[in-house]
Amino acid sequence: MTENKKVNASNEQEVKRETLTTRQGHPVMDNQNIRTIGNRGPATLENYHFIEKISHFDREEVPERVVHARGSGAFGYFETYGKVGDEPVEKYTRAKVFSGAGKKTPLMVRFSTVAGAKDSPETARDPRGFAVKMYTEDGNWDLVGNNLKIFFIRDAMKFPDMIHAFKADPASNVPNPQRMFDFVSRTPEATHMITFLFSPWGIPATYRHMQGSGVNTYKWVNEKGEAVLVKYHWEPKQGIRNLTQEEANAIQAKNVGHATQDLYEAIERGEYPEWELFVQIMTDDYHPELDFDPLDDTKLWPEDQFPWLPVGRMVLDRNPVDFHAEIEQAAFGTGVLVDGMDFSDDKMLQGRTFSYSDTQRYRVGANYLSLPVNAPKAPVRTNQHRGQMDIRNPKESGEDPHINYEPSMLGGYKEENKENRAPHHPLYNATAMSAPIDRPNNYGQAGHTYRSLDDWERDELIKNLSEALAICDNRIQDAMIYHFKQADEDYGRRVKEGIEQVMYEIQEMKKENQLPGRESGKSKFGQGT
Ligand code: HEM
Repeated sequence: MTENKKVNASNEQEVKRETLTTRQGHPVMDNQNIRTIGNRGPATLENYHFIEKISHFDREEVPERVVHARGSGAFGYFETYGKVGDEPVEKYTRAKVFSGAGKKTPLMVRFSTVAGAKDSPETARDPRGFAVKMYTEDGNWDLVGNNLKIFFIRDAMKFPDMIHAFKADPASNVPNPQRMFDFVSRTPEATHMITFLFSPWGIPATYRHMQGSGVNTYKWVNEKGEAVLVKYHWEPKQGIRNLTQEEANAIQAKNVGHATQDLYEAIERGEYPEWELFVQIMTDDYHPELDFDPLDDTKLWPEDQFPWLPVGRMVLDRNPVDFHAEIEQAAFGTGVLVDGMDFSDDKMLQGRTFSYSDTQRYRVGANYLSLPVNAPKAPVRTNQHRGQMDIRNPKESGEDPHINYEPSMLGGYKEENKENRAPHHPLYNATAMSAPIDRPNNYGQAGHTYRSLDDWERDELIKNLSEALAICDNRIQDAMIYHFKQADEDYGRRVKEGIEQVMYEIQEMKKENQLPGRESGKSKFGQGT
């Protein structure tokens, strides 16, 4: 018996444990020592168990999400109220997930930050992702939202540039806010989102204490095929809590995963977080009475004109059993709608809808929809088979093994009868073009949001912007001050003064020329003693 085996034998527990096997089902006789020529010699190539073990390890990670890489998630259910406000929900949508008061639909949620890598701090000033996948009786419905209700840009064409600017410098890999403000200063429609992001709303205290929003505009379609525009909002029953930069720094000094930990531990304790789902509804037209385009996702729909109507609630009551299988490989997309829902002409929504499943075919694989977390609980009867990791069990599927095409007179699947579900037919009569929308109104709501903040939130906003902008090129500073002034004169003036103050303080600190840390370790190592 080798030394290692002797040690293991003496540590043997009383507990009855199953035998470790290889992935081929063979019992593993030695999981500590590779096979060598003599006990000091070179390794042999036929070490099947070792080579399988190490080569599987080499492939353990899938690529992280290109955005929203850092996240955590949980499972639970959605319970519909069966009505929207005081009206029957069927007036607006035939989606079964909303019909029948008290009906529960299982779901999973993934919360995330946006710009950081997979293990980056969860205290980042960054929007938070709020993606919900409902396993409805009519197939899956994904509502891929954020905590904030608006976005930086209104055209999908700009998204890759925006994300490049928000991530670390491609040469040095150093995060640098100047890159972000360089982009934003040339993107006036971002002024509203920047106002939220640099206020305490840019650092939610935990995932349990933040709102969620679909951000983009969708459609609801009723039995007659009539559509309305709809926006979705999640309101946390736990209340809303945000952090100042100082509070976030203190948490980050001790814990880079506080939000994941908070969610996981709350659910383990049986404190199940809950959100109420509200919708805002608008007729599907140009709305000339508004000073903005309702399909512009940099805008809020004013609550006094478009009230928040409750439609149901969501409870999270189960943690993942395996993070990789159930959360990392989860795949959400804005194209994943059920009957009774449709896309609006929101240009961001349209651009997003291609991107999600495209990245998931690369990130997870062509058959990503077969994984338990992504597979619908409604029956799947498709001819889209084969590809790598096709895990169907043809014997159990009950499919006609000969007919993998449609239409057919011999068998296989048939299309749904159209008459059962009146289609929604939007009508277009316009010239194809690449052009910005009318009514951009880039500053009006930004100014209103600035004035609506509590005093401590506004002070925090000015401080955070001043500190971030103080290290930027002065052309970027001037452009940003201009945008804030357009939103509100006081806003621009205070940021300008704040930047000047921080720049002065930086100059003073530079005079002291301090390096971090203390001098240490001189001549103690590397002397061969
Ligand atoms: C994740 C693209 C805008 C919310 C992602 C991913 C891509 C992407 C490629 C990674 C998906 C994956 O690997 O599974 C885009 C594009 C956008 C856009 C092209 C604009 C044109 C938005 C907006 C929101 C949003 C406006 C908020 C409403 C999310 C969320 C995730 C995500 C929450 C993480 C989903 C998860 O937890 O797996 N986005 N996105 N995105 N996006 Fe977007």
